[in-house]
Amino acid sequence: MIERIVTTSSTPDDVTEVELEVTLRPKDFANYIGQERLKQNLQLAISAAKKRGEPLDHVLLYGPPGLGKTTMASVIAHEMDATIRITSGPAIERAGDLASLLTNLQDGDILFVDEIHRLNRSVEEILYSAMEDFKLDIMLGKGPSARSLRLDLPKFTIIGATTRAGALAAPLRDRFGMVHRLEFYNPEEIHKIIERAAQILNVQIHPEAAQALATRARLTPRIANRLLKRVRDYADVNGDGIIDANISTQALGLLEVDELGLDPSDRMILTAIIDNYDGGPVGVETLAALTAEERSTIEDFYEPYLMQIGLLERTSRGRKVTHKAYKHLGKAKPKEQSSLL
Ligand SMILES: Nc1ncnc2c1ncn2[C@@H]1O[C@H](COP(=O)(O)OP(=O)(O)O)[C@@H](O)[C@H]1O
Ligand SMILES: [Mg+2]
Repeated sequence: MIERIVTTSSTPDDVTEVELEVTLRPKDFANYIGQERLKQNLQLAISAAKKRGEPLDHVLLYGPPGLGKTTMASVIAHEMDATIRITSGPAIERAGDLASLLTNLQDGDILFVDEIHRLNRSVEEILYSAMEDFKLDIMLGKGPSARSLRLDLPKFTIIGATTRAGALAAPLRDRFGMVHRLEFYNPEEIHKIIERAAQILNVQIHPEAAQALATRARLTPRIANRLLKRVRDYADVNGDGIIDANISTQALGLLEVDELGLDPSDRMILTAIIDNYDGGPVGVETLAALTAEERSTIEDFYEPYLMQIGLLERTSRGRKVTHKAYKHLGKAKPKEQSSLL
């Protein structure tokens, strides 16, 4: 697989990025830029819960990767003065794993379950009564001698995160008191995030260069931070470490990220639809086959941004590229189609 600079997932070469993320991750609402509506809602719920001396209602955060779900979970814990334990759907393999996680919590603790749509069914079912009544139902033994046991659990809060709320079973989704979608950031917010990160990393970046990075960051903080890091490397090697407009243009050219933040894989997807299907509509399975990507990768990683900036449309018959996509790629629209528009 081609290494993607604009990938929104944490890639294996991000070992150093793990440390970097720790320092760059905002700790409280004041440092968490953007997502204003979400912050207002959460702030209100947190103040109310604190006033009543109760744990916060369960929270489900969903939206494309890299927008700050994990970060928000730790911000919530910080604002609640709560201890946060972090796990993920695939990590909880059996009912017993969940049982031991839950029984080890204290009143007021937060359990963060990343990729909660990947919990398996048997685990999920135990979570229902745990979330609703703070009770744990476990089966002891097998066959005729099996009996069930009901245990009291501490009053905890689950924060679930997922890239696909649609993949969550309805009964699970219904048990979250707050369900919030994280939105793409606007370019001004991304600009601020880059300047904040530059300050923390002690890098000098000129405003035009910050602007150039901001427009290419796919409206996503994780990518903004990653671009900054790569461009900083370039500035360290090819200059005096200061990121000016010139350095950023050269570095971004080397990374093959265009002015809309598209990398070669994005362009390949759009080009495949145009060249093979006259711009679509084309089914997502076909698109996956054409580009040799997983269907879920296309749906979770590529599409949300391509749709957000109006290059791709989802119709009932499949994916279609837009007029803007033809223009961006410098391709001519097929005749009969353009005359209809
Ligand atoms: N609102 C924000 N302000 C500043 N930086 C942010 C913000 N949201 C996310 N980040 C940065 O982006 C990175 C990715 O965020 P993360 O919470 O891991 O995304 P997700 O869990 O949605 O994939 C974090 O390490 C953090 O440094
Ligand atoms: Mg995350």
